[in-house]
Amino acid sequence: MPLPTSIPAALLALCFLAGTTACSTPAPAPEPSLFVRLGGMPGVTAVVDDFVSKVSVDPRSKRTFEGVNLTRLKASVVTHVCSLSGGPCKYEGDDMALAHRGMAISKEELSVMGYYVDQALRRQGVAREDREALEGMLDKLGPEVLNK
Ligand code: HEM
Repeated sequence: MPLPTSIPAALLALCFLAGTTACSTPAPAPEPSLFVRLGGMPGVTAVVDDFVSKVSVDPRSKRTFEGVNLTRLKASVVTHVCSLSGGPCKYEGDDMALAHRGMAISKEELSVMGYYVDQALRRQGVAREDREALEGMLDKLGPEVLNK
């Protein structure tokens, strides 16, 4: 067999000899980020709008929301969730310990919020594994929110 004369020809010959498909099969597309799987900005905004509206009026959890500007809070939480889930936002608000300092948030208030987050994600049609992924991230912030 004559030797290939150019580098592309040499590579082609190598692929052929190696009998591999790696040379011709494109690399698999990267997994979409959790942010994308949550429906991007419209999805995250809908989820946050839903659960903040619920948690701020439920008698078990409304205590700390009195006098709070909900429109501003929702915008801040959207940016936070967007950034947490790998979206293009940069959250520049207070860290979770500082944001909730002095509120003495209870475990019950935290779990009421968790319930509404899950409900909002389900209503938005987010798949179970993606709900669990976001809820796991929020759970990790629990101790900071409780200031423990
Ligand atoms: C993992 C759980 C939680 C996360 C990730 C979270 C996230 C946030 C974020 C991003 C802010 C805005 C901070 C800023 O703009 O600087 C905020 C503020 C606030 N959060 Fe949470 N939060 C959580 C749990 C809770 C719970 C359980 C309650 C009450 C039931 C609560 C009540 C509030 C209130 C009232 C504010 C507004 C404070 C103010 O503007 O004066 N949060 N939270």
